[in-house]
Amino acid sequence: MTVDDVMALAPVVPVLIVENVADAVPLAQALVAGGLPALEVTMRTPAALEVMREMAQVPGAVVGAGTVLNPAQLDQALEAGAKFIVSPGLTEPLGKAVIASGAAFLPGIATAGDIMRGLDMGFDRFKFFPASTSGGLPALKGFAAVFGMARFCPTGGITAENAPEWLAQPFIGCVGGSWVVPKGPLDPDQVEALAREAAKLTSISRR
Ligand code: 3PG
Repeated sequence: MTVDDVMALAPVVPVLIVENVADAVPLAQALVAGGLPALEVTMRTPAALEVMREMAQVPGAVVGAGTVLNPAQLDQALEAGAKFIVSPGLTEPLGKAVIASGAAFLPGIATAGDIMRGLDMGFDRFKFFPASTSGGLPALKGFAAVFGMARFCPTGGITAENAPEWLAQPFIGCVGGSWVVPKGPLDPDQVEALAREAAKLTSISRR
């Protein structure tokens, strides 16, 4: 699966911070049922790897790892079944390790220099992070004008309300966000309803 395949799965990639392994399957089922099959499980909780393993069993789910910071975490994520890798930024050790693994990769960028270093390594699909505080859509429009070959997945501060504005840009393939899974005890019906709304959003680049 290429990174373009991942970005084409749905307009929104839910960013998941899962504390309880028991939530993994019902959460993944709710998101898939709501139309969001690409699931970014962040490696920020002790449960993350087990959560990926559980979610990978859910039919239709395409499980990825987020907040991957180094080659050791990359190996753990791939071993747990991650089909794509997301990082908040790009380092040379991580970039080289991802290339060697062949995994689909969305490295994080926030500046023109970040994008240039990514292009030098052969990447042209990026997570724009943290999107809302790194200049927001005006900044990304500026980057897109200069780096015409690049496509982006903004994450960080994206909401149900502002997602349509981002997705209206041809250089944005999808957005990432945590809003489809509200904090607190898991309510699968609520998550499915929020996912259903998010899945209705459309990116120009997928029309
Ligand atoms: C991420 O991990 O990409 C962000 O923390 C998600 O940002 P959000 O909570 O503002 O959606």
